[in-house]
Amino acid sequence: MSKRRMVIAGNWKMNMTPSQAKNFASELYEAVKGKRGCDIVVCVPAIDIPAVVKVCAGTAIKVGAQNVHFKNSGAYTGEISPEMLIDAGVKYVVIGHSERRQYFGETDETVNLRTKAAVAAGLTAIVCVGETLTEREQGITAEVVAKQVKLALSGISADQMKKVIIAYEPVWAIGTGKTATAEQADEVCGLIRSVVASLYGKVVSRSTVIQYGGSMNAGNAAELLAMENIDGGLIGGASLKTDAFTAIVTAAQ
Ligand code: 13P
Repeated sequence: MSKRRMVIAGNWKMNMTPSQAKNFASELYEAVKGKRGCDIVVCVPAIDIPAVVKVCAGTAIKVGAQNVHFKNSGAYTGEISPEMLIDAGVKYVVIGHSERRQYFGETDETVNLRTKAAVAAGLTAIVCVGETLTEREQGITAEVVAKQVKLALSGISADQMKKVIIAYEPVWAIGTGKTATAEQADEVCGLIRSVVASLYGKVVSRSTVIQYGGSMNAGNAAELLAMENIDGGLIGGASLKTDAFTAIVTAAQ
């Protein structure tokens, strides 16, 4: 098992109204109480943030957002700034999720801008990278992922890397029930670690948290989390069920 502290983060995506979120967060808090062996994060829809921050105040559960703009204010209708998230009690933010890259025009360049702004504001950025099925079949996974990592981290200092988590999420494994094998996931997480080492040196790469995401569930979490280079999970579907998410948190203890 990895020597780094695990981070188990739920990505609720576009699920849970504010009232549902409030109830679910209370349930979750009861379920994971006392499980102090990993960091627990829930990345919730922006409108749910106040309710979830209130429920999770003083508990081990930290609250994350699912996106952030790179300016602190201005004429950007519909966007939410790093300053706003910080003021609302948010500690983490998912950046560059494949669904944002696929459906909302997110590029490596905007991922980089958001990452720099998030980290500068004091948020921990969970930067998502991962290849599509076609790219895996073409044998270019390593190139694709290395490029995404390098571009996302451009301009981030070695010291700021303490505020960066990289989530390896193969696009073909997201929401498909098709998990990468533990070996496949560990191989790419190891590659990401070597890219971080090439940019910042071994000390930084050894302490960087690299998560796996893509159909992680109660049944496969223990095997994935046992791998040397996998330091946690970014969990979609299974993070919406108390039992499944708690089981993953337990596997990370
Ligand atoms: P699933 O766990 O539903 O496959 O989603 C993974 C994901 O995209 C987390 O960000």
